[in-house]
Amino acid sequence: MLLRIHRSLGVTVWMTTVLRLIWRKTNAELPPFPEGMSQLHRALVQISEYCLYALLVIQPTIGFGAVLTRGRSFTLFWGHMPPLVPHYPTVEAVLFSLHRVGAWALGLLITAHAVNALVHHFIIRDNTLARMAPVLGTERGIGELALERGDSQTSFGR
Ligand code: HEM
Repeated sequence: MLLRIHRSLGVTVWMTTVLRLIWRKTNAELPPFPEGMSQLHRALVQISEYCLYALLVIQPTIGFGAVLTRGRSFTLFWGHMPPLVPHYPTVEAVLFSLHRVGAWALGLLITAHAVNALVHHFIIRDNTLARMAPVLGTERGIGELALERGDSQTSFGR
């Protein structure tokens, strides 16, 4: 039962990520990087973002491949999948090892991503979290940011 939920959630993660990538390529408006951000910082942020997307696609694919190469039927969502390929014990073992490594890598990246967003919001106190998730509605106005930082004037001289 738990594995059925695990597999179904994993496939859902895969589909959601693919839809997100299609949306991102066709419709999404990505906010520009803040002006003062160094090239190195920008590159690191982009690399970590691409790695996250890659793992969100690769990890479920590997899990699915591992289950397929067991050569047995398995449950997925509300249905039953018949054995679609023969049993390949070596491939199965390699894929499950990769699945374990991928889970650690994904866990580390997601934690780093979340910690960075929280550091920006609560310690650096800038708009990064609002730019990452506008739906949260946490955007801070320039005046509010300036007041929190103790500036007497904003860049608009108010
Ligand atoms: C984001 C997606 C996924 C993540 C983060 C993930 C993570 C994990 C983790 C942490 C384990 C335990 C590994 C261990 O220490 O043994 C595991 C096991 C497993 N995963 Fe996934 N998984 C994902 C997607 C999938 C998918 C899509 C499938 C299959 C359709 C799948 C099938 C399995 C199976 C069958 C096991 C049990 C392996 C065993 O029998 O030891 N996973 N997964």
